[in-house]
Amino acid sequence: MTPPQPDVLIIGGGVAGLTLALEIADSRPVTLVRPAQDDQGASRWAQGGIAAVLSPDDDLDAHINDTLIAGDGLCDPQAVRFTVENGPAAIQWLIDTGVAFTPDPDPKARYPYHLTREGGHGARRIIHADDATGRAVVDTLLHKVAQHPQITQRSDLAVIGLLRDVAGQCRGAYCLDDAAQPHTLVADDTVLATGGASGLYLHTTTPAPASGEGMLMAAELGATLMNLEFQQFHPTCLYDPEGQAFLISEAVRGEGGRLLNEHGHRFMLDIDPRGELAPRDIVARAIDAEIQHGTQGHVWLDIRHLDETAIRHHFPTILAHCASRGIDIIQQPIPVVPAAHYSCGGIATDLQGASNVPRLYAIGEAACTGLHGANRMASNSLLECLVFARSCAQALRAPRSRPNVALVPLALPQATNGNDDDGEEIARIRRHMRQTMSQYVAIVRNDQGLDTAAAQLKALQQRLGEIASGTENRVALQQLGQALQLARLTVACARKRHESRGLHYNLDWPDIAERAAASLITLDALD
Ligand code: SIN
Repeated sequence: MTPPQPDVLIIGGGVAGLTLALEIADSRPVTLVRPAQDDQGASRWAQGGIAAVLSPDDDLDAHINDTLIAGDGLCDPQAVRFTVENGPAAIQWLIDTGVAFTPDPDPKARYPYHLTREGGHGARRIIHADDATGRAVVDTLLHKVAQHPQITQRSDLAVIGLLRDVAGQCRGAYCLDDAAQPHTLVADDTVLATGGASGLYLHTTTPAPASGEGMLMAAELGATLMNLEFQQFHPTCLYDPEGQAFLISEAVRGEGGRLLNEHGHRFMLDIDPRGELAPRDIVARAIDAEIQHGTQGHVWLDIRHLDETAIRHHFPTILAHCASRGIDIIQQPIPVVPAAHYSCGGIATDLQGASNVPRLYAIGEAACTGLHGANRMASNSLLECLVFARSCAQALRAPRSRPNVALVPLALPQATNGNDDDGEEIARIRRHMRQTMSQYVAIVRNDQGLDTAAAQLKALQQRLGEIASGTENRVALQQLGQALQLARLTVACARKRHESRGLHYNLDWPDIAERAAASLITLDALD
């Protein structure tokens, strides 16, 4: 039987996409296009938890204030308040859906679940499932999604672009299947939950992050992108240049972990009174400076002084993973480096996830709601996924009339006589793009480096345009083209920002501007 054409099309299978699917499917049929492997994307790899005001000892204004401070003047206060106020209900929804958060072992605790601390938070407000919160949430939601009769999952398709009609509305997506055969999914409403752009960098905290493909698809339809230059580097990724990416949760510092340089000195206390729990931009920059001046290529995260039982109880995943890589975290400090982790920028949306393109929505890391400003505070990202997926569901719940206007004819990439050996060249260009971004558009930037990056990325895009790929590489070719354009837009935003703020630190513009202004950009900015 041919699968039905979607009413609501959701692209992406992380916490945002799954939450929206479940929240809307009782009202409207949903098609969810998501990767076949559950470990793709970032949600499943999130360790620390979800920030929300849950303890009676905490309060909403404190969470709002901490978020605004971490965002370094660039947050949209309305988006921050909206997210924080809707946080407790979103967590309750997860609990009701069956997520097994870690209980507080103290029988006298004023909230039944254990709350940990992370950088920038002035209170314990991170609910978690041990140190594998993303996995617990994604697995629970996936299980529910699989049972819902109104959700059709498509993991046989890769979305490579969006459809529009002659009135400029988004009307679904076009896709290729495993045999590179084209398919169109015509939808009344389309939601991108496609993740961020950390995959533009060489070293990341998740093994297979997105590279901004969804953001670029939206831009192709005319969507405005916002704040792309604010790429967050998580301060503590396991240092192992040959091995798979592995995050060491910020909760490790939240529970007392200390950062030491190669001389065993606890350097964060020299830099910020909040020490290891300063906001991420500050900690990542300090580690980067230690690495630049040192000889070993990493710093140490030391938890040897913490209670062994507490470590085993709170961090079983990190303990086991490090052990598998030959590090006993009870006895040895952990070598760590910053790695690309989260894109604060994305598709500009309102509080319901609506972009400026009619019938096109974005939620989760693909979106830029204004919550994170110039630097996302730890564990506010899963919170944003939940709150905005739920508000988007509310906006989309009422069925919509199907527009009676023609679709713009498709320009689907055709099979060519290109040969499938192009895979090597595509991989080479991708590697070069990542090297360029990691060298010139990372934690510390300067104007000359940004200009070099702009020129190199443009040349790579031209080179890619000369490849007429065979069937096998059609999806890879299309996605790399999108990633390269997103990288170029990111550099353009960075080059225009004549200040240092939050995650954007430019040696040629070291001061912060008096007035904070968002970067807005569209695809027209590229020549
Ligand atoms: C972590 O566990 O450190 C990651 C949490 C986050 O990025 O919010």
